[in-house]
Amino acid sequence: MNSSESPLAIVVIGASGDLAQRKIMPALFSLFARDLLPSEFAVYGFARSAMDDDTFRESLAGSLACRYTPASDCESRKRKFLEHCRYTQGQYDEAADYLELYRALRRMFPGEHPNILYYLAIPPSVFLQCARALGDSGMTQCGDSPFWMRAVIEKPFGHDRRSSDRLVSELATVFRETDTYRIDHYLGKEIVQNLLVLRFANSVFEPLWNRDTIERIDIDWRETYGVKNRASYFDRYGIIRDVVQNHLLQIVALIGMEQPAGRTPDRIRDAKVSLLRAVNPATPDSVRLGQYTAGEQAGLPRRGYRDEDGVPAGSTTPTYARVALTLNHPRWHGVPFVINAGKAMDADRTEIRIVFREPATPWCDREGSCGPANCLIIRVQPNEAIRLRVVTKEPGMTQRTVPTDLQLVYGEAFPQTIPEAYERLLLDVIHGDKSLFIRKDELAAAWDVFTPLLDHLKKHNPEPEPYPFGSDGPR
Ligand SMILES: NC(=O)c1ccc[n+]([C@@H]2O[C@H](COP(=O)([O-])OP(=O)(O)OC[C@H]3O[C@@H](n4cnc5c(N)ncnc54)[C@H](OP(=O)(O)O)[C@@H]3O)[C@@H](O)[C@H]2O)c1
Repeated sequence: MNSSESPLAIVVIGASGDLAQRKIMPALFSLFARDLLPSEFAVYGFARSAMDDDTFRESLAGSLACRYTPASDCESRKRKFLEHCRYTQGQYDEAADYLELYRALRRMFPGEHPNILYYLAIPPSVFLQCARALGDSGMTQCGDSPFWMRAVIEKPFGHDRRSSDRLVSELATVFRETDTYRIDHYLGKEIVQNLLVLRFANSVFEPLWNRDTIERIDIDWRETYGVKNRASYFDRYGIIRDVVQNHLLQIVALIGMEQPAGRTPDRIRDAKVSLLRAVNPATPDSVRLGQYTAGEQAGLPRRGYRDEDGVPAGSTTPTYARVALTLNHPRWHGVPFVINAGKAMDADRTEIRIVFREPATPWCDREGSCGPANCLIIRVQPNEAIRLRVVTKEPGMTQRTVPTDLQLVYGEAFPQTIPEAYERLLLDVIHGDKSLFIRKDELAAAWDVFTPLLDHLKKHNPEPEPYPFGSDGPR
């Protein structure tokens, strides 16, 4: 049986929340609009908020966008999708409430038992209570049944190696590892998926992809906004746990790993794990931490981190980190992977820059200018693009050299709509493809890179360097 053609129930736990409303439900709508969901499917929202089916549908309507549907069909397509959406009010730790949901679900699918996808879109503090109650309700054990039950878990997966291990083992009592999909939405981004293709399908890059020709790799992540309404979450986690240990370290793995021994999800993840295990743990000397202070953006005054609602007075949580990682790996010996990540900065951008070494014998123009080193720039967001910076003779009666870009701009080269990360990842869960999800040994290896540093920071609580809101980080 093709499991993707079997009836499907998608249970979004925490359906009243930001992630569900802003990302998960719009992504499901996009899959529906492209006929990528099974013909028999239903979406069940579950949360504590008091809503009935109609108010739930109303709460969703505004966030659905017709990315793949002509404007003339948009409203009717949305209506059809919303007819598949239902809501159950309940407590996350109440097995009886999940049973009620299950009864509603069985009434909806009286024949063949549907596959069930659980999306735990709830704060980490309630993950375990929710999983245990689901387990107690008997809604997660399917043994060798002909239908599957899969669970999508959102980051943060713990806050250090120890808590992550605990979470993994406790969740494993409810969901088997094969049924657990740890999502890192960066892996669903189109250009991040392209990293392995760029490296291994183009013979021009792989011979250069090593310490002999590459001097440094920069991974730059910046946002123009501060913590918005997520201060209480952010203050407990900080920038290293929020983006560096997961999204940006995943990029390090994809840039640094060896060619996998095959294209299966496990062979790809084996190669990533082996690279992550070669990353030397980050040390206090290899990191600079910052925290934004009051500043100005687009002519408007902006509050500093410590004045944001929900941030405790005198908090030392870093909103900026610059970490230089080194690898114990023959290919990368002596090549720093420099991660630069900050909130409340001067731009919204994620970019990877592979900086090549200068030629052994520089080719300088008559004015003595030798041009910058080559650089391969991979723009992850916004405006996905790949640029190779090369030195070129300036046209005309001159020998002057100038840096120029050979470039692939996705928006120009690929006019089709590029799927959102959550669209791609949800479809992979439905198809049971785990290539883009984090395996438990991968998670452990990622925490091993940062846990000693996080322990040190907890013990010594250093004061982060201030930087004004809207700047490019600490001086
Ligand atoms: N939002 C994002 O962009 C984003 C990005 C990456 C990862 N994540 C992760 O995805 C998960 C969901 O994120 P989110 O932003 O959607 O969270 P959220 O809006 O804060 O919470 C989701 C829902 O959980 C319930 N809830 C909130 N606080 C609770 C508490 N203290 N105890 C019990 N229930 C509570 C609320 O629903 P009811 O009151 O109706 O029950 C809320 O609507 C989190 O693990 C988050 O770290 C989110």
